[in-house]
Amino acid sequence: MSPAEAPSARSSKRGIFVTFEGGEGSGKSTQSALLKEALEARGRRVIRLREPGGTKLGEDLRQVLLNSPGIDRTTELLLFLAARAELVAKTIRPALRDGIDVVCDRFIDSTAAYQGYGRGIDLELIRALNKTAIGDAVPDLTVLLDIEPDKGLSRVSKGSGGDAIEGHWQAELSFPENEGIKGKRVGGRDLAFHETVRAGYRALAEAEPQRWLVLDATRPAAELSAAILERVDALAATQRPRRPARATTGQPLLPT
Ligand code: TYD
Repeated sequence: MSPAEAPSARSSKRGIFVTFEGGEGSGKSTQSALLKEALEARGRRVIRLREPGGTKLGEDLRQVLLNSPGIDRTTELLLFLAARAELVAKTIRPALRDGIDVVCDRFIDSTAAYQGYGRGIDLELIRALNKTAIGDAVPDLTVLLDIEPDKGLSRVSKGSGGDAIEGHWQAELSFPENEGIKGKRVGGRDLAFHETVRAGYRALAEAEPQRWLVLDATRPAAELSAAILERVDALAATQRPRRPARATTGQPLLPT
């Protein structure tokens, strides 16, 4: 048994995996940061990630994705999936196995909502690719911060919504062409796209209610954070024992 596979003395429980989803300006970064703080205050170990990103390759792919106006939708899909596979293999799966909680801004459901509902790629194909990319690293809880796109987009453009990080990402990522994912957001020019993404998210949540918590993102941040923490506390109370190290995708669990 390699050191990476040796049982950790630190925790006998698998970490809790929480993802945040929602449109632009929905306050995901604010809520994921608050959740991380709250869990740490309970003495838990937590890492907070964002997609695309979180690994060297993922951050490189992020730059490619967000600076490729007119990118073909299938190319875009596969790049998001490549970033995800890397993040799961190198960071998420090892962390969960080691008893560390993982909080991630965007994950599998962003692909279903944006590339599936938004750009019209077959949802079954996306499901299959997501499964290949994540293996058993399925979120225990996915929080949908639901907001009408025009309200969310205006919070982003005003830099409000209490979300400095999202504001920063927005500045970093905007480009003028109106094609591809980022182009869709610039100036809120294609509101219909964002409406479709929102409807997609709601359909995904309805189809799998046990995994999702749907919240009205216009509620005060403190109220939202309390509701999220209540669900996470309930999960912690029924936390699964850690599984033996085993990759379902055939990749090594940790970098060699
Ligand atoms: P970013 O500015 O990081 O996100 P946010 O909108 O949360 O501030 O931009 C990420 C963009 O990438 C966002 O428009 C959603 C999109 N995206 C997809 O289209 N598919 C995906 O699988 C992921 C993870 C993101």
